[in-house]
Amino acid sequence: NRILKIGLFGFGCVGQGLYDILQRQPNFPAQIVKICVKDPLKERSLPADRFTFDAQELLNDDSLDILVEAISDAHDAYDIVTLALRQGKRVVTANKKMVAHHLEKLLQLQAEYGGVLLYEAAVAGGIPIVRTVEEYFGQEPVSRISGILNGSSNYILSQIFKEQKPYSEALQEAQDKGFAELDPWLDVSGADSRHKLCILAAHAFGRVLAPEEVPFIGINALAKADWEFAKRRGAVIKLVASLHTTEEGKLVPLVLPTLVNSIDDLYTVEQEFNGIVVEGAYAGAQLFKGRGAGGHPTGAAVLSDITGLLKGYQYHYQKLHEQAGVAELDTDFELE
Ligand code: HSE
Repeated sequence: NRILKIGLFGFGCVGQGLYDILQRQPNFPAQIVKICVKDPLKERSLPADRFTFDAQELLNDDSLDILVEAISDAHDAYDIVTLALRQGKRVVTANKKMVAHHLEKLLQLQAEYGGVLLYEAAVAGGIPIVRTVEEYFGQEPVSRISGILNGSSNYILSQIFKEQKPYSEALQEAQDKGFAELDPWLDVSGADSRHKLCILAAHAFGRVLAPEEVPFIGINALAKADWEFAKRRGAVIKLVASLHTTEEGKLVPLVLPTLVNSIDDLYTVEQEFNGIVVEGAYAGAQLFKGRGAGGHPTGAAVLSDITGLLKGYQYHYQKLHEQAGVAELDTDFELE
């Protein structure tokens, strides 16, 4: 039983999280052998010979069994992942922005060249939500998904409500703790939640949404009056990303700061945690809750994808095949 070789792109929060997890699992049948990073001047925790600055070196190395892409730049990530898929490789990515913007192309490349791409880490960190909607709800119509999909925003909101911290201090903490994106605008504007929602829409509702089709407002749009309003009502504000179908079968996607009171499932989702309510036709509403950001939880999701690849797992996009074109977008609603 040979140890399979992993080539890793990126050694930031997710890459280091994965590396650390694998170090603690010496019996795991795959290990990282080469890491591609961008900045030659940055000080790193591993010996220099573990790194390369040339992406082609990893892409052209046929001895690598699996490539893991964990860089933050969505353009570079797209280049790496598409080049790998064109070679029919097995790839894991954590890049939600890249997947959300290019899912159609990524599907086409997998079908054409026989490669496989998994991206559990791209949505809700450690919560296995992509595979859950893909498999558990594979046959069952999903009527609603309603989730807190951005750990940084949720952390900031929790700090403001529970600890009375100012917004800027809470944001700085989310950055210091490694929850936030390199560009934290993605977190606080709702754009990151929007990317994750697009991925869930494909697996749960069979509809490939372009991010531009999802109306979004983030927590950066909130004013002091909003906090005070929520407090007077005994409620909190959460950044909720949701998808539901209308009676006519149209899909309605939305990312919006929302008043959440104590009887709501999402009320208990605090700090950097994510929570997702999935409502199936027969299963009813279920809450999935867990750590949505951070090196170890996200690294654990990548590890789970690597394990899946080793077992021959791939997404089936069953609903996409069955329901392509069924759910149409209905943005003809008014914000209250
Ligand atoms: N910045 C993201 C978040 C990281 O805060 O949720 C996980 O995708």
